[in-house]
Amino acid sequence: MRVLLLNGPNLNMLGRREPEIYGRQTLSELESLCVEHGQGLGFDVLCRQSNYEGKLVEWIQGAGDKYNAIIINPGAYTHTSIAILDALLSVDLPTVEVHLSNIHRREDFRHNSYVSKAAWGVICGFGPQGYLMALDALFRRFSPTETMEA
Ligand code: DQA
Repeated sequence: MRVLLLNGPNLNMLGRREPEIYGRQTLSELESLCVEHGQGLGFDVLCRQSNYEGKLVEWIQGAGDKYNAIIINPGAYTHTSIAILDALLSVDLPTVEVHLSNIHRREDFRHNSYVSKAAWGVICGFGPQGYLMALDALFRRFSPTETMEA
């Protein structure tokens, strides 16, 4: 199983960026954690980050025939990007949307997610652990003994 892990704008600043909200772990530490956790589940996890909407769209478009699932934290594009929503709808891969913070406890403009309309599930508020929870959820989804794809 191959999983594409995408992080959007400003997530390259993790560790330095508003640590009281996003924690002190850097993006590369977070990505290593995900690759390692993925290995334990038998997943090949490829990590990518961009501050550009079009780049994220292109990675999603290219994922259709190469990956089995997508985990995405679209950062602020969550709340604005119909282009990312459309890209996810076009590839039709099981997608887990992850946010480090609980977007529903924060400013009103963070409460809406366009991306959620294409997501199999959404995890928010658990910090870096949310990414591992996303991998676990996909593992269960792909496990032949589980029936969680509804
Ligand atoms: C975020 C929440 C977004 O509202 C914000 O713009 C981010 C990070 C999160 O992980 O909590 O960049 O996606």
